[in-house]
Amino acid sequence: MADLPALLRRLQEILGPAGMLTEPADTAPFVADWRRLYSGRTPAVLRPANTAELASAMAACAAAGVGVVPQGGNTSMVGGAVPDEDGSQVVLTLARMNRVRAADAVDQTLTIEAGATLKAAQDAAEAIGCLLPLSIGSEGSAQVGGILATNAGGNNTVRYGNARDMVLGLEVVLPDGQVWNGLRRLRKDNTGYCLRQLFVGSEGTLGIITAAVLKLVPRPREVEVALCAVASPEAALALFHRFYTNDPAAVQAFEYMAGTGMDFVLRHIEGAVLPLSERAAHYVLVELATPRPQAGLRGAMEAVLEAALEAGEVSNAVIAESGAQRAAIWRLREEHSEGQKREGASVKNDVSVPVSKVPELIARASEACRALMPGIRVVPFGHMGDGNIHFNLEQPVDMDAAAFLARDHEIMDTVCAVVRDLDGSFSAEHGIGKLKPYMMPDWRGGAELGLMRAIKDAIDPAGLMNPGKVLPCV
Ligand code: FAD
Ligand code: MLT
Ligand code: ZN
Repeated sequence: MADLPALLRRLQEILGPAGMLTEPADTAPFVADWRRLYSGRTPAVLRPANTAELASAMAACAAAGVGVVPQGGNTSMVGGAVPDEDGSQVVLTLARMNRVRAADAVDQTLTIEAGATLKAAQDAAEAIGCLLPLSIGSEGSAQVGGILATNAGGNNTVRYGNARDMVLGLEVVLPDGQVWNGLRRLRKDNTGYCLRQLFVGSEGTLGIITAAVLKLVPRPREVEVALCAVASPEAALALFHRFYTNDPAAVQAFEYMAGTGMDFVLRHIEGAVLPLSERAAHYVLVELATPRPQAGLRGAMEAVLEAALEAGEVSNAVIAESGAQRAAIWRLREEHSEGQKREGASVKNDVSVPVSKVPELIARASEACRALMPGIRVVPFGHMGDGNIHFNLEQPVDMDAAAFLARDHEIMDTVCAVVRDLDGSFSAEHGIGKLKPYMMPDWRGGAELGLMRAIKDAIDPAGLMNPGKVLPCV
């Protein structure tokens, strides 16, 4: 048994008065997740001010055999950043470690501490005339450490890839308190195993990301955003193909939204207005952007939409005329999670399939879920250009929320059976967290899970890093 009071005294010495929270009222925001699926307990929330303090705190926890749960903005969709219910694990927040260490417009790199929000990192890139091309609805709260630890995707993956593709270097504190300084900003560095990519997507189970060198790109000179009513998911896919074959380098986002999700946004989100004359069963938001001067994106947008209107794929469309209109259209997409949350209880399936299979996924999974639970409301939306659909389900109107959530595995397994049949993945961008380790043996069993366990054992032999997340208990 760990001597918890002795550890807390030691941590207080290391971190100072501003560096640790122990009062239940202060720790409460750190023990429940954004979706309110999990609620844990912790004796302390650690708030180190720098890497040296963090490393000493980690060494103290390792010596005491106490588990550590790293937390960024706590926006995980899979309960990845909350401690267990037994009150034995400390939470480690990087909120005080949020400095921009360097920004270089020639190298096109940003060196930033892990506790900075994604929005702050985007702003720092913009300040030197660059773009950090990662955009997610939670960017005002999610932190650089959190997005790297989950390998977040989001709205621009179709053009720039996931968080993983933006990392040149990392600084990491290991479970025993050692610091690995891998903050290199090299475009080429072929020197053995690529350690930084091991920590990206590891969801806090291998070490603490304390800083990163992020790869930037030139800022776009032209941006065009359109919201389209489309006839069906098949029509949305055809529209994607039109834009992509016209100019793949210009497609910065291609997002699908079912009418159900849009209706929730219009019902629950203050100020949300549909800029089309009537509601539709399916929508697409497309964003074109380019750093090229005089690229004529507006003409390209209009030409592709006209052809799609003639082909009957698009029934109505609006192109934003100003930055404010672009933001208003994006808001309709970004508020989908919040709109769904306010409508009632939901079960989320962040799944991916080959892009060409998205319409089949939506049709087959919708039918299977309706057969499983009459009255269930199907809310598919998301990153169609990546084949990543949030195949979310909303509780039937007259059903008790708890009774609905009690059937979450049954619903998830129903959707995932279709996903498997289409050669897809049960987690596209949200990760595994606490919600999905039960699926790992079935989906990633055998040699793959064996390798993952071997890596975990090598780096964190005592199993103190974010216990119970990602890998199923043995
Ligand atoms: P947290 O939730 O705090 O933690 C996530 C995981 O990372 C946990 O396992 C935690 O232990 C670990 N972790 C956190 N910080 C560190 C660190 N410094 N070192 C090591 N491990 C760490 N996700 C997408 O991919 N795409 C989307 O489009 C998207 N949209 C969203 C929209 C909304 C409205 C919300 C609420 C969430 C959305 N998400 C999306 C999910 C979530 O925002 C992302 O997973 C994000 O990357 C989590 O960042 P965070 O800082 O909040 O991390
Ligand atoms: C998003 O893309 O908005 C989120 O990742 C989706 C969700 O809430 O499931
Ligand atoms: Zn998403």
